[in-house]
Amino acid sequence: MIDLRSDTVTRPTEAMLESMREATFGDDSRDGDPTVIRLEAMAAERMGKEAGAFMPSGTMANLVAMLTHAQRGGEVLLEQGSHTLNAELGGIAGVAGLFYRGLPGHRGAMDLDALREALRPTLRNQMGTALVWMENTHNRAGGAVLPLDHMRSVHALAGERGVPVHLDGARIFNAAAALRTEARTLAQYADSVCFCVSKGLSAPVGSVLCGSKAFIERARAYRRMVGGNMRQAGPLAAAGIVALETMVDRLGEDHRTARRLAEGFHRIDASLVDPREVETNLVRVELRKSGRRAIEWSASLKEKGVLVAPCDAYALRFVTHRHIGDAEVDAAVSAFASLWDGR
Ligand SMILES: Cc1ncc(COP(=O)(O)O)c(C=O)c1O
Repeated sequence: MIDLRSDTVTRPTEAMLESMREATFGDDSRDGDPTVIRLEAMAAERMGKEAGAFMPSGTMANLVAMLTHAQRGGEVLLEQGSHTLNAELGGIAGVAGLFYRGLPGHRGAMDLDALREALRPTLRNQMGTALVWMENTHNRAGGAVLPLDHMRSVHALAGERGVPVHLDGARIFNAAAALRTEARTLAQYADSVCFCVSKGLSAPVGSVLCGSKAFIERARAYRRMVGGNMRQAGPLAAAGIVALETMVDRLGEDHRTARRLAEGFHRIDASLVDPREVETNLVRVELRKSGRRAIEWSASLKEKGVLVAPCDAYALRFVTHRHIGDAEVDAAVSAFASLWDGR
């Protein structure tokens, strides 16, 4: 099977497995675990922040960020296609007790005029903005990269009103690679940032939330509240350390295979995808012209040995990663082409 459903399907490397076997088994939530402490320090350094807290998932890191930044009843402003609004099952309202306003955007970047208009203080008859949210790379926008200028403007607008900014950087290293810069260059435009070691970086589990020391101290309490307290997490952190040390620099290769995939689809039919829009390792393929739903396409492709997940009723999301080379890309394109011709 050629598995293009997500970069979360990546298996740990031999070096990760080796480091997991040798990891420490301290109790993270009691007196601390040295390997977890090391990962958190490395993560904070990479993000240009003071501190980090290891979390079981990106979803939890986002949720804990909301809880730590914002008071119940406040409003979160974010681009309407954000992962947290569309795929994290309403934790923002259901657990964090926050209202939210999805702002229109282009390729994941929220409209700055809409943001300017929506930012508002709390008054006796008005709910105020509690948090501004960005996502880079942007999942539903097909792995689009928010430009640095955009991030700078969002941060400045929020800052003028004293509103904190969180960056969902689940794939921040992909964004940084595409922009040919360091992750901290992006993270400087947010008060907190989280990223996943479990996606293209190939570690089995985990995300790190980073911010100021005081922020992370409070975040640890909220992490406990939502059941994310870590115990003997040393082996997981060990894999995360190897991920940061060895996997970041190869992400450009996943971007190259993604473009190759997009070019293959574009040759089949130009309506499927514009390869010029593929900036990282996610390829959003639009199927409306076929008249068949994404779920039907994924079922047919599975029969041909290609696994892929729908991201909308008429769109599939193909994700390239460490186990996908040119041969897998070409085989996936051929499988799709044979179905397209016979549709
Ligand atoms: C942008 C973004 N944020 C957060 C998450 C959630 O990460 P996790 O699956 O570890 O909960 C994902 C997962 O795909 C994501 O794409």
